[in-house]
Amino acid sequence: MTKFPVEKIRADFPILAELIRNKPLVYLDNAATCQKPQAVIDSIVQLYSHDYANVHRGVHSLSQRSTDKFEGARTKVKDFINAASDKEIIFVRGATEAINLVAQTYGKANIKTGDEILITAMEHHANIVPWQMLCEQTGAVLKVAPINRQGELIYAEFEKLLSDKTKLVSVVHMSNALGTINPVNQIIAAAHAKNIPVMLDGAQAVPHMTVNVQELDCDFYVFSGHKLYGPTGVGVLYGKQALLEAMPPYQGGGDMIRKVTFEHTEYNALPYKFEAGTPAIAEVIGLGAAIDYLNEIGMANIAAYEAELLAYATEKAREIKGLSIIGEAEHKGAILSFVLDKIHPHDIGTMLDSLGIAIRAGHHCAMPVMDFFEVPATARASFAMYNTKEEIDFLMKGIVSLIEVFG
Ligand code: ALA
Repeated sequence: MTKFPVEKIRADFPILAELIRNKPLVYLDNAATCQKPQAVIDSIVQLYSHDYANVHRGVHSLSQRSTDKFEGARTKVKDFINAASDKEIIFVRGATEAINLVAQTYGKANIKTGDEILITAMEHHANIVPWQMLCEQTGAVLKVAPINRQGELIYAEFEKLLSDKTKLVSVVHMSNALGTINPVNQIIAAAHAKNIPVMLDGAQAVPHMTVNVQELDCDFYVFSGHKLYGPTGVGVLYGKQALLEAMPPYQGGGDMIRKVTFEHTEYNALPYKFEAGTPAIAEVIGLGAAIDYLNEIGMANIAAYEAELLAYATEKAREIKGLSIIGEAEHKGAILSFVLDKIHPHDIGTMLDSLGIAIRAGHHCAMPVMDFFEVPATARASFAMYNTKEEIDFLMKGIVSLIEVFG
């Protein structure tokens, strides 16, 4: 394999040249949000400077330019995850909104009192709370498949929980708190054998690996733009066309209609049926630019490089006395959650910040995962394609100095 061009990539991200507290930024909070390459920033500046107007609404030139770019981004997303059609790509605000959309449309239409929704114990709040709300509304029951101390799904238990009552499985593809990559092929095959649809929460997975929704055969797949080097405020719901066709709309308003009278409204075709109101035009176009950028580097190359980073960081972390890694799944993405004896994760985060190192400290929007590991919070270093082994060395040095001073 040719050497991964990390220095060239770093030069494409202007923020990586920032000094934080007079020190070079070491940005290791990529699971919370990723930084943006110049190509994404430029696409937004270009749009607002030269091509901007509302989409799908005007015959004038600017509206057509905006619409072409907007719909062009939809095709880029479709190709990026290998969906069968642009109709299967719904733009939403983020993974969270996509899950809420499925809960409140597919869920309300298909899930009734006594039915079950199956998730796992490693979900973050966005894949828990929308189902709890649906359960409150319908009388359905939320079932949770357990995990083990490595932070892996106990697959045999998951399979046992698939029953005639299960009406939907919704599982994280890669955990934000632990890094675990779930055996999604196995999960989907087992659920489909019982005719149960499966939704995958891919917010953490898409930046780190090739995702092919047709090969996976998942029924729904959701992700956010901002974790994929794109802007905030945009995300994607992929759904199989037949399912989306049968679902009622989510929100009502402009663009999702074909004809409105005071007596009756006829809804628009896919994908517009689920896109009420003026969409996040610049953000969608920025997401398209992020996908172009990633395609140039190649997701397989990114995955291989990040696997090296994770292996290096894990090895170095294991050498530090007093550090415990939380989440040691065999199949894991580029996330290192850890705790230190006697130093609270928030203090770790604050002290590392004084060295210019950005990590996240907290519950990572996954409080039940913290409860399972009996910790209030973890410190989490999450890696991206622009991180380097030198940055990992710097992080480890920082951690060792903290332990020396405060541990
Ligand atoms: N869910 C995001 C994280 O993992 C915000 O930090």
